[in-house]
Amino acid sequence: MHRDFLKTSDWTADELCGLIESAVRFRQGRNRAQTLAGRSVALVFFNPSLRTRTSMQVGIYELGGNPVVLEPGGTSWTLEHRGGVVMDSDKTEHVAEFVRVLGRYCVAIGVRTFAALRNWEEERTDPIVNAFAKYSDVPIINLESAMHHPCQAMADMMTIREKLGDGRKKVLLTWAWHPKPLPMAVPNSFALAAAQMGHDVLIAHPHGYELDYELMEVIRRQAAGAGGRITIEHDVDKAFDGAEVVYAKSWGSRNFYGVPEKDISERARYRGKWIVDESKMARTNSGIFMHCLPVRRNVIVTDGVIDSSASVVIDEAENRLHMQKAIMTRLLTI
Ligand code: CP
Repeated sequence: MHRDFLKTSDWTADELCGLIESAVRFRQGRNRAQTLAGRSVALVFFNPSLRTRTSMQVGIYELGGNPVVLEPGGTSWTLEHRGGVVMDSDKTEHVAEFVRVLGRYCVAIGVRTFAALRNWEEERTDPIVNAFAKYSDVPIINLESAMHHPCQAMADMMTIREKLGDGRKKVLLTWAWHPKPLPMAVPNSFALAAAQMGHDVLIAHPHGYELDYELMEVIRRQAAGAGGRITIEHDVDKAFDGAEVVYAKSWGSRNFYGVPEKDISERARYRGKWIVDESKMARTNSGIFMHCLPVRRNVIVTDGVIDSSASVVIDEAENRLHMQKAIMTRLLTI
């Protein structure tokens, strides 16, 4: 039996802490194990990437392995993921064969498959990454799906611990204005992992930009189990009061899913208000600024904040490499 890395709530808080400790050993150069020597890992990218693609390729190389990058519809065949479908349209190969064939060559498969932002009820079930997991004989690593970005979230948890030390922190996840609706995977996974780590998490967003209700129940349950608190705030200035961590991200409204022009019109009123700027950071408790990147400067965050000593975004991106080496090592040495 193998385990997948699809979302952090499939793993216990103790296991997640173990991943952080392992990733720190990689960062400090104390672990130079060649866990993947003579082995290959497939990386399947339906969408663009800088950090995820590069850090996975470099991480596999540093573990002694060989990364095989595939882009369905580009460098490999177009893929169907639905069960029982008559494949008489534009899809050439089914995930059922795709992942089992890859499993004969590779010891794990990473997959990036963003939300299409068309059908909320369908996409909230994370159908593509779950189809990969359903059919695969080797571990699947979620490199950002419609609902989750667990590798990012774990690098984020590692960064918080690295910058602020162990223990509960006052963490703000704040929505930010962006010219178009974006997927919710990053805020979902950040809030979930922060809750599992026992942080006090304040989620700030305008009315109508609530995260998935079932996921929020999971987040609240995880927080209660870990001794932390989850608070929702709609006043963007007040949200920053006393924060030790400011995590900015934009996402789309479920109310306008599939109709981006309505979301764009709804959010227009928040431009210039829901931005991380110097005056908001001044309300924090010497808070650090985090973002998963890529980020639009002077839209999500001002130059003054992202270029300040409070900004940890480059270290946060570096930690993707160490964390993913820890995740691959954990999955492949069970
Ligand atoms: N943060 C993140 O996943 O970056 P990329 O989209 O560049 O991989």
